[in-house]
This record gives sequence, structure tokens and C-alpha cells, in this order.
Amino acid sequence: MNNYTNKVVIITGAGSGMGRAMVGEFVSRGAYVAALDINLDRAIETVKKLEKPSMAVPLQVNVSDEKSVKNGIDAVIVRWGQIDLLCNNAGVLDGHAPAHEVSLEEWNRVMAVNLTGPFLMSRAVIPQMLKQGKGAIINTSSTSGFSAAGGGSAYTASKHGVIGLTRQMTFEYGALGIRINAICPGATATPMAMPEQTTAHSPDMDLAVSKVPARRWCKPEEIAKLAAFLGSDDADYVHGSAYVMDGGWLTAARDPF
Ligand SMILES: NC(=O)c1ccc[n+]([C@@H]2O[C@H](COP(=O)([O-])OP(=O)(O)OC[C@H]3O[C@@H](n4cnc5c(N)ncnc54)[C@H](O)[C@@H]3O)[C@@H](O)[C@H]2O)c1
Repeated sequence: MNNYTNKVVIITGAGSGMGRAMVGEFVSRGAYVAALDINLDRAIETVKKLEKPSMAVPLQVNVSDEKSVKNGIDAVIVRWGQIDLLCNNAGVLDGHAPAHEVSLEEWNRVMAVNLTGPFLMSRAVIPQMLKQGKGAIINTSSTSGFSAAGGGSAYTASKHGVIGLTRQMTFEYGALGIRINAICPGATATPMAMPEQTTAHSPDMDLAVSKVPARRWCKPEEIAKLAAFLGSDDADYVHGSAYVMDGGWLTAARDPF
């Protein structure tokens, strides 16, 4: 098990789903964790649920707001003086509507969180990582970073964009000691994928999941373990990858829906 003793890890979207699971995973491996979420109550709840709540600090940060991001990163540096790993996990789903029915407001809302968020957060932590000569960033993309139908046009374009951002930043910072990778989950059992999020255009996710080779939903804890590997020295040669954990979803030549 990769050890994160004395490492400082920042996780966005820490108030729910995969972000909450990541906070638990990294704290259990010895890390100090900054649990960032736009919803402070949920971030606090994440930290309260930990066996060792003193290892994590909840912070209210909106990843799409430049000032909020700066304040959050400044607070982490003041508290711990280093940043070893940033997990850009926060994301929002769109309503799956066909492109001609998507308002510019909806397009901008999704892009702001899913793509501008990882850019702003990375831009804010990279100077500290360059000073250290070492660091890692994990961006959460999706199977929607490769294929259509997991979301609508805004979600799919944003998640393709996250892979592009990962590759470009790898090109820019890999030789300077910063490893940057993407995680591409398939259908994962979190609030984002639950029925209350469905719209008139949403696919039947249970049906889709019943057709993937693994024949089950991914657990958020499984994604957290992948993040723990990618952020560790065991993954020292893993740069710029888009690491798929999807139960085989992308192997299907047919429409999984
Ligand atoms: N659940 C899935 O099936 C699935 C599949 C592929 C990829 N993903 C991606 O995984 C990531 C985590 O998703 P999840 O399923 O755990 O979702 P979730 O909805 O359970 O949690 C997302 C968290 O992000 C937070 N958030 C939203 N906007 C924010 C902002 N502007 N600033 C800070 N925090 C913000 C929310 O408050 C929430 O706590 C997302 O990037 C998502 O797109 C999810």
C-alpha cells in the first residue's frame, strides 16, 4: 500500500462521491488532506466521518472562481507549507440534452467547473510544486473523455478537454518534476449518477451498467485507490496517461445504452 505519511494532498469535490472516498483513502495512508468543495457543509461532513479527522481540513472553494481558488491554495500553503498532490475531482453533469437545446448558460456552467476548474486549480498549485521540484496532479475525466453518450455535448466536450489539458501540462511540466495524469471512470455509484439527477434526456444507467463486461457499478473507493497509485512514487514513470477504470465500458463497439 502506497504510504503518504507527511504528504499534503488537495482534493476538490471532496464533499461527495469519489472526492469523499479519496479523502478517506489518502488519510488512511497517512496524508494531510485539504478537502475542498463549493459546499462547505458537505466538506465538513466528509472530514467528520474520518477515523482521524485531525488529518484533514475542510475548505470552501469554488474551483471555477479564480479568487476562491487562490484563497484556498494560500490557506493550504500557510497551514502545511507544501503540496504533494492535487486531485482535480470536482465536476458536474449536464442534462444530456441534444446540442441545439443546450443554453449558453448551461454550456458555460459545465465548462466552468469541469474544465476551467482543473486549469485554475493547477495554475495555482504549479508554482509551489516547481519550487519543491516535485509534485503530481490527477485530473478526473471520464469515459466521456473518449466517447459520446455518457453525458450531453457540454459534459462530453469538457471531459475530452480534461484529457487535452492533462497531455499539454505533461508536455510542459513533466521534465520539471510534476507528473500529471487523468482518471477516466465509467459508471460509478455516486450521487452524480443516481436517479435524482436524471432529466428527460437521461439514459437508463442501470441498463447500461448491466451491459458492461464487469456487470456492475464502479465503487468510488476503487477510483480512490487508483488515485492513490497514480499520485505515488510507484507511478513515477506514469506521465500524461488517461487511465480508464470503467469495467470494460469502452470495449463495447455497440451503444451501451
Ligand atoms: N459518477 C460517475 O459515474 C462518473 C463517471 C465518470 C466521471 N465522473 C467524474 O468524477 C468526478 C466526481 O464525480 P462524483 O460522481 O463523485 O460526483 P458528485 O456529484 O457525487 O460529487 C461532486 C462534488 O463536486 C462538488 N462541486 C461541484 N461544483 C463545484 C465547484 N464549482 N467547486 C468545488 N466543488 C464543486 C459538489 O459539491 C460535489 O460535492 C466528476 O469530475 C465527474 O464528472 C463521474
